[in-house]
Order: sequence, then C-alpha cells, then structure tokens
Amino acid sequence: MITATAPGKIILFGEHAVVYGRPAIAVPVTQVSAQVTITETGGDFVIEARDQNRTARLSELPDDDPIAAIVRKTLTALDETATAGATLIIQSTIPIAGGLGSGAAVSTAIARALAAFYKRELDAATISSLVYEVEKLHHGTPSGIDNTVIAFGKPVYFARGQPIETFNVPTPFRLAIADTGIPSPTKIAVGDVRAAWQADPAKYESLFDRCGEIARQARALIESGQPDGLGRLMTDNHAVLREMGVSCPELDSLVEAAMRGGASGAKLSGGGRGGNMIALVTATSEGCVREALLRAGARRVILTTVKASNVKRDLSLA
Ligand code: MEV
Repeated sequence: MITATAPGKIILFGEHAVVYGRPAIAVPVTQVSAQVTITETGGDFVIEARDQNRTARLSELPDDDPIAAIVRKTLTALDETATAGATLIIQSTIPIAGGLGSGAAVSTAIARALAAFYKRELDAATISSLVYEVEKLHHGTPSGIDNTVIAFGKPVYFARGQPIETFNVPTPFRLAIADTGIPSPTKIAVGDVRAAWQADPAKYESLFDRCGEIARQARALIESGQPDGLGRLMTDNHAVLREMGVSCPELDSLVEAAMRGGASGAKLSGGGRGGNMIALVTATSEGCVREALLRAGARRVILTTVKASNVKRDLSLA
C-alpha cells in the first residue's frame, strides 16, 4: 500500500491581486492535510473520495472531473498508458471551499501517490504544473499560487510569470487561522472580482497595486526579522480586500474579534466571502485571541508557526 500526503495552505498577503500579476505570499499549513492511499487490487482502477462519499471507476469519470483529471494527467506524465487494477482512497482534513487549498492538496497527494505507486519520481515543479492544470477546473483563472505553495511545501513569494521564490524567515512568527464555517468556492469570488475589474478597471488596478505593495513590504519585514510589523499590513490588506468586495460580515466580525483579543493584525485569507481568516499572534496573546475567535463564532481555530524553509531562493531551480 502506498500513502502520500500534501499540506493545506494560507495566503498571507496578496490574494486576488495575484491573479492580476501582483506579488503574493503563501505558506503551507501542515496541521491540515490531504492523504491518498493506493492499494493494488486487480480489476478496475477505483477512486474512493471518502469525505465526499463518492466511489467510482476511473473509466466512468468524465475528463473535467478534477479527481479523474489529476489521475489521468499524472499517468500521462509517468508514461503509464494502461492503469493497473487498484483502489485510490482520498481523505482530507482540509475544509472544502475554505480558502486552505483543499483542491490543490488533494491533487498534489494523488500525483505523489501515483508516482510512488509506479516507483517513479516526479519533482515538485512537475507536480505543481500538473496540479495547476486541474486548478483551472476548480477555479477558472487561477494565479498558480495554491499549486505552487502546496507542491513545493515551502513559503513562497509568487508573482505570475516570474521565477517562484521562497524567502528566509529569520524570526518565526505565530498565526491563528479561524474558519467562518461558510464554504465559499474560490471560483465565484474570483469571477466576481473579474466582473468588477471589467466594470471599473482604474479602481481595481489601484486596489491590486496596493495589495502588491503590501506583499512587497511584508516580505521585507519577514526577511529582516521584524514580523511584528506584519500586523499593520494584515489589517491594511483586509481593508483593501473589503473595498474589493470579497469580505463578508462573518469575516469582518472574526477580524474584529481577533483584534479585541489582542492580535496585532488580522485579515481574510484566500478567496474570501467565507472560508478562513488569519491573525498575527504571540505566545502571550494566542490563548485570548483563540478564545475571542471562538466566542465570535469561529468553527475551528488552528495555531501555526511560520518558519524558515531552508531551500534555494529560486524554487524553479530547486
Ligand atoms: C486563492 O487561494 C487565492 C486567489 O488569489 C485565487 C488565485 O490566486 O488563484 C483568490
């Protein structure tokens, strides 16, 4: 039996603007993950998506089914034309449509498991580009940041069309991640931002520029060992995302609760309109912030540390 996993992710800065070429920062979140096992059984190639209560033979699934798509694309990349008789089981602790990269993590874990099943290597860049093709089925016009951060499993500074970079985190920092419990497919939020940008390009270009500038400043603070300064940038980024129309009352109220609880900054993370938000905390404030978030209706709060990635800065050369 082969098992492979992939982590969730959060966008620290720059969601939505990243679709329009501005830089953004994302980090993996290992407290949640997708897990895939493959067992050789003979007969058909069967896929069991446990969380969705779905079992199907691969041969019955259409090409635009995201799970069938990643299986077929990975088999093609591995030069395996005929599928062996096997059962592929998908399990995930990443909430679906919660902004934590559940689709990209499931695809990444499937690609890794298939490579291991056929005793082959697929490097992170290849897996990332296979997953990107499937992300287009989930999201329409993805920037590529989710597949990159999840397939490489490192913090990334990502701008479309540029070499993917990781960065140093000389001073680790803590985040609280809180779930509104409202599923919000990224595709819808991204589509609405596109329509709003088309209706008023000057306004939206300027909002995207502000997000890009915040992401650049955030990277400089992280790399110079001053993560305390990130709180103000998070709060500024949230204000811009509200102007963009991708927040919602539940996200705003979790952001306010985190600040009341002692966080030094907070923002929505990912597509918005629901899903998750993040708050900058310390060892001293995290207990109160967590309590405040739960009291304000958060379904779940994850505490995580962002730390160094120990890799070459240019991930495309890794
Ligand atoms: C989703 O995690 C982040 C968005 O910017 C969409 C994308 O980059 O593809 C909202």
